[in-house]
Amino acid sequence: MLQREDFPFLGFGVGLRRPHYSHILEKHPAIDWFEVISENFMVAGGRPLEVLDAVRAQYPVVLHGVSMSIGSADPLDRKYLRGLRALARRAAPVWISDHLCWSGVGGKSLHDLLPLPHNEETVRHTAARIRRVQDILERHILIENVSSYLTFRTSTMTEWEFVRAVAEEADCGILLDINNIFVNAFNHRFSAEEYIDEIPPERVVQFHLAGHSDHGAYLLDTHDHPVRDDVWALYARAVRRFGAVSTLIEWDDNIPPFAVLAAAAGRARGIYESVRRECVTADGARA
Ligand SMILES: [Fe+2]
Repeated sequence: MLQREDFPFLGFGVGLRRPHYSHILEKHPAIDWFEVISENFMVAGGRPLEVLDAVRAQYPVVLHGVSMSIGSADPLDRKYLRGLRALARRAAPVWISDHLCWSGVGGKSLHDLLPLPHNEETVRHTAARIRRVQDILERHILIENVSSYLTFRTSTMTEWEFVRAVAEEADCGILLDINNIFVNAFNHRFSAEEYIDEIPPERVVQFHLAGHSDHGAYLLDTHDHPVRDDVWALYARAVRRFGAVSTLIEWDDNIPPFAVLAAAAGRARGIYESVRRECVTADGARA
């Protein structure tokens, strides 16, 4: 059974991205932790693994995958999972995450994080596969809620009911992407606040924060902008509900200087600390 205390609070981190390798290795900037894209380091050797070893020696690191395709109808990709297990043995990440989605079928990868129908059949199918992955990796993993731009006629539950049901049946953790909740709430006209309020706190191990693009009729999860003010506000609500949860700034396109990412991580810390002060004050007022 997943124990929340087995997942330490790492503080406020950023994604490890190639344009920042030299800066990080030479300057050792003050940042709490890094998230690395697993697939970028599932290689036999060379510069990427040297960078990972050097970063790992100085900072906590977690692995975040983009191609497990955990919801697909294809068989699990054993070769991929063996590679991930080998990387995990080398890098000793604090945890491993991937997305609650599918990425391909019939042996073809679409290189995207595609949404799943929210129903009991998909819960059972996906949770059973997560359990098998956890057996192979010999640890609990985290699954992340994805952004989406369509819904399925076969869905019988809300997205937050689906995320919760999969995590509970698989006995895995949740990586809650606050921006994805905001994007989906706008695109599918549901309440982001209700979503946050219905996710079980004992399974939430990590948050993602990212920027999206506003296309008027819909929002697109592009990871190429600063985090929007509405998403910061939703983050504050999440901190109030879930408490000390390791928080990561994602930025994948138009990547700015490292200092911009570090400042965003600092803003997350500021929100966390002000929410904590609010809670202490409220407790004091009640006492
Ligand atoms: Fe994310």
